[in-house]
Amino acid sequence: MASSSSFLLLAALLALVSWQATASDPSPLQDFCVADMNSPVRVNGFVCKNPMEVNADDFFKAANLDKPRVPNKVGSNVTLINVMQIAGLNTLGISIARIDYAPLGQNPPHTHPRATEILTVLEGTLYVGFVTSNQPAPNRNKFLSKVLNKGDVFVFPVGLIHFQFNPNPHQPAVAIAALSSQNPGAITIANAVFGSDPAISDDVLAKAFQVEKNTIDYLQDYS
Ligand SMILES: *[C@@H]1O[C@H](CO)[C@@H](O)[C@H](O)[C@H]1NC(C)=O
Repeated sequence: MASSSSFLLLAALLALVSWQATASDPSPLQDFCVADMNSPVRVNGFVCKNPMEVNADDFFKAANLDKPRVPNKVGSNVTLINVMQIAGLNTLGISIARIDYAPLGQNPPHTHPRATEILTVLEGTLYVGFVTSNQPAPNRNKFLSKVLNKGDVFVFPVGLIHFQFNPNPHQPAVAIAALSSQNPGAITIANAVFGSDPAISDDVLAKAFQVEKNTIDYLQDYS
């Protein structure tokens, strides 16, 4: 009796663990499933274009990823090549980005809800880091950071808040990132929390951040 219930507990635990381990883009069930962007059918991802009509251009994009980009107001520019740019990425669980950093520029704290990211520095230096979740204790909200030089590689685990900062006041930096989703998504923390449309009530945010409401109003106006 006791052993059969502990067996059930073990089976339930194993089911939970294997479910967590597959929390990413689903595995393909055919060689490819090039996205048919014109289909009215809604599925998880996109439905497949007729394989007889697939050609090399479905797996190609003249993306000029060798060319520098113009940085935004926080001093970076992310050029993401996902399933919207290359329809052949549909169901394959992968995408790529070029990230440009101005001197002292940053790719601000953000998360990818659907992808782990592996980043390599092509030019310059980057100070990078991520923060763990609240589980498991006592590892909660632990900050792991590193200074990367040209040629170095760093991993940001799926879902965790991370950033990259170029500490050099004179030289730009460039990185290439690969992401484990055809559509990684990005939640930029400052934009989502203080720049949502419509705005989150300042009553909520003042309590959440334990500051005065005018501090929240200032941040909301700025973003
Ligand atoms: C990124 O760079 C491209 C090309 O230089 C530019 O067209 C685009 O507006 C830039 N994006 C941002 C957010 O500044």
